Amino acid sequence: MLLPTTPVTTFSANWQRINEPLLHASNVELWLYCPTTIEPMISGNKWLKLQYHIKEIQQQQYQGFVTFGGAFSNHLAASAAAAKLAGITATAYVRADVIDLANPTLKYCLQQGMVLIVTDRQTYRRRQDADFLKVITKRHPNCLIIPEGGSSVFGAKGIATLDLYHTPAGPADVIATATASGGTLAGLIMAENITTRPLTEIIGLAVINDNALPQHVNALLATELTVTVPWRIVKTAPEQRYAKCPKEHIDFCCQFTLQHGIAVEPVYTGRALYKLYQQIQSGEFAAGSRISFFHTGGLQGVAGLYYRKLINRRQYQILSGVRAG
Ligand SMILES: Cc1ncc(COP(=O)(O)O)c(C=O)c1O
Repeated sequence: MLLPTTPVTTFSANWQRINEPLLHASNVELWLYCPTTIEPMISGNKWLKLQYHIKEIQQQQYQGFVTFGGAFSNHLAASAAAAKLAGITATAYVRADVIDLANPTLKYCLQQGMVLIVTDRQTYRRRQDADFLKVITKRHPNCLIIPEGGSSVFGAKGIATLDLYHTPAGPADVIATATASGGTLAGLIMAENITTRPLTEIIGLAVINDNALPQHVNALLATELTVTVPWRIVKTAPEQRYAKCPKEHIDFCCQFTLQHGIAVEPVYTGRALYKLYQQIQSGEFAAGSRISFFHTGGLQGVAGLYYRKLINRRQYQILSGVRAG
């Protein structure tokens, strides 16, 4: 059974220019590219990273896939949704001590029919090791292995179908995105592998403190680039661990969401935008620069932040679009 094509067709229409005193004062234009799909769980970068995996599963006539993620992972929720739409099986190794049935992400995954396998931290760390993957392949014959975050060459190639270069106001000087497992950034770099374009800088705003991230990105790009595309990784908040949301990031997300009517969350997009604003403020981009920022979604995670009491009720209502009262 083929996935419905409708989600893909809506990807191109959602550009939004951000108007802020900071941007006017710095003479920097900021455009947000916001892909949406008919299934919110696969909006942002999610369906893009999954689409070629699903195609491969269909072509190879696998029964489904096995993947990996944390207990509140956007990738797990998206994979579960995509598998259900495609009519294939989904199994996930979840970094957790138990499957907490009240965790909104895992609850959703189970509702979609995903099989969840509790995986302790030590075992989970081996998720990219060749010998561990051999065991997984044996355990789940007839399944494609999708790496954590969907960050394989298939995932990057799906992202590379996007055009973040041509904003409605003209070509971008800078393309920026939140980055974690590296597939999204690699895909945006692949998309700029075009000789006829002036070189646009691509910035991955790293939401995790993983010194191996540049290696992961380079590995995905290894055989794909014919043009030298300038890219760099900038750490967003090196003193803050992944998914530990400081107050200033949460406040920023609430204010941004209320002001622009575009919800952003503090683990990925909001954390990345916060850093981008700091860069703009410190004059890192030349006057007249046009920045194209990829809104990668991730809003399913807001319920999990509230569940873990990392945001309060009011913040939850703002970020999830729930009306107060
Ligand atoms: C909302 C959101 N934004 C950005 C990213 C980072 O993408 P990547 O893991 O491909 O670097 C993720 C993780 O997939 C995510 O869930």
